[in-house]
Amino acid sequence: MTALGLDLRRVYGAYPTGVAVVAGLVGGRPAGIAASSFVPVSLDPPLVSVCVAHTSTTWPLLRERPTIGISVLGAHQEHVGRRVGARDGDRFAGVEWRATEGGSVLVEGASAWFDCVVEQQVRSGDHDIVVFRVEDLDAAHDVPPLVFHASTFRSLR
Ligand SMILES: Cc1cc2nc3c(=O)[nH]c(=O)nc-3n(C[C@H](O)[C@H](O)[C@H](O)COP(=O)(O)O)c2cc1C
Repeated sequence: MTALGLDLRRVYGAYPTGVAVVAGLVGGRPAGIAASSFVPVSLDPPLVSVCVAHTSTTWPLLRERPTIGISVLGAHQEHVGRRVGARDGDRFAGVEWRATEGGSVLVEGASAWFDCVVEQQVRSGDHDIVVFRVEDLDAAHDVPPLVFHASTFRSLR
């Protein structure tokens, strides 16, 4: 990585985001990644997006699924962000989750969730911008969100 690349990571990290879990059933088991790049895109049609690194080994499995779940983690779910965002180990160990009929995996107790299908995937540098069409969704505004800033999990409380 170039010196500029190192700086990009540090400076991109100054932009505070939430933490989403993008997940689905693969071979009957939950598979997923953590994503700080989740962004709502469009109201009509309802679209959201996530940027996925080309190095992801989980995304090629997930994108083949008919539906994919996106859960916006609550402040009480830092352990879920760490577990699902870890490179190794069972990412759903100790995580309460449920599967939809279509095979989306949603994290219980999240501050919002979306049941989605992949609409479009656009190559952009070393990531793909994945646009999802939202089929179902809900939010619990009484659950404060988990915040990710400067490589650190934070809470608004
Ligand atoms: C807080 C946090 C946010 C992350 N956000 C993204 C993201 O937006 N896009 C991405 O491709 N990977 C992101 N990752 C990394 C993935 O969760 C995962 O570690 C990576 O895809 C490698 O795993 P895989 O090879 O199983 O896909 C994030 C990790 C953490 C801990």
